[in-house]
Amino acid sequence: MRKQGLIGARWRAAALAGALTALAGCSGPAPAAKTEAPPAAATAQPTALSISAATFGCIRDMTPVGRFYVGSLTGQLDAAVAVAQSKDGGVFPAGSIVQLVPGEVMVKREAGFNAQTKDWEFFELDVAPTGTTIRKRGHVDVVNRFGGNCLTCHEKAEAKFDMICSTDHGCDPIPLTDDMIRALQKTDPRCPTAVELTKAEKEALEFIRAATPPADDAAKATGSPS
Ligand code: HEC
Repeated sequence: MRKQGLIGARWRAAALAGALTALAGCSGPAPAAKTEAPPAAATAQPTALSISAATFGCIRDMTPVGRFYVGSLTGQLDAAVAVAQSKDGGVFPAGSIVQLVPGEVMVKREAGFNAQTKDWEFFELDVAPTGTTIRKRGHVDVVNRFGGNCLTCHEKAEAKFDMICSTDHGCDPIPLTDDMIRALQKTDPRCPTAVELTKAEKEALEFIRAATPPADDAAKATGSPS
C-alpha cells in the first residue's frame, strides 16, 4: 500500500510524529497528551510502527554517519544521528533505521518489542530497481544470506553502543573493506541516480558478486539435495 520510499515515509512520519513521540517517549518526559494509559502489563501491544517493504528505499537517501546510514520513521532523525555520532553511544529513538549495506537493516522498534535485541528489528532484504522485498525480519533468529545470525554478532557491541558494531565497538570485524561498502552503497539498485565507482570499488563489487549466493540459494541449501 505504501508506495513512497524512505523520503516519502520520512515526511509523512513527520506528520505523525506527534502521536509517535508519545510512544517513543516512554523513557523521556511524560507525554502530556496521552489518551489512554492502560496498566503496563495489560496491553503488551504498543502501537506498532508500520513497517513494510515500502518503508525501505535508496540507502543514499538516508543520512551518512561514518560508514553507515541513519534514518528515522518517527521524525527523530537528529536524535538518531546524534546517537550514531556520539563517542559515548546512547539509545536510538524508536523508529530509527540503520543500514550499512542495501540488503541489511536494523530498525529500532517500540519499547517492549524484544529485550534481547534491545528492541531492534533485523531485516534481510532483496533489493531491485523495482523496489524492496523483505526476505526475513524479526529479532533473535534472523540470519543473513551468509548464514550469520544478526544478533549473535551485534550483541557483542559494548552495551553503551546499543548494538551498533561500527569498527571499534567490540564486535568481531567483518571482512568488508571500505571499497566494498562504498561500492554496495553506490550501486543500490533502488536509487534513481547512478554514482560513478572508482576502479577499486568496481573490483570490490566484482569480488562481492562472486562471493554472494543468489537470492534463492539459501532456501535451496537448507532443502534436501537432489
Ligand atoms: C558476522 C557478524 C555479523 C552478522 C552475522 C551481521 N552483522 Fe551487521 N555488522 C557487523 C559488523 C562487524 C558491522 C560493522 C561493520 C563495519 O562498519 O565495518 C556491522 C554493521 C551493520 C550495520 C551498520 C551499523 C553497525 O552496527 O555498524 C547494520 C545496520 C547491520 N550490520 C545490520 C545487520 C543485520 C540486519 C544483520 C542480519 C540480517 C547483520 N547485520 C548480520 C557484524 C555482523
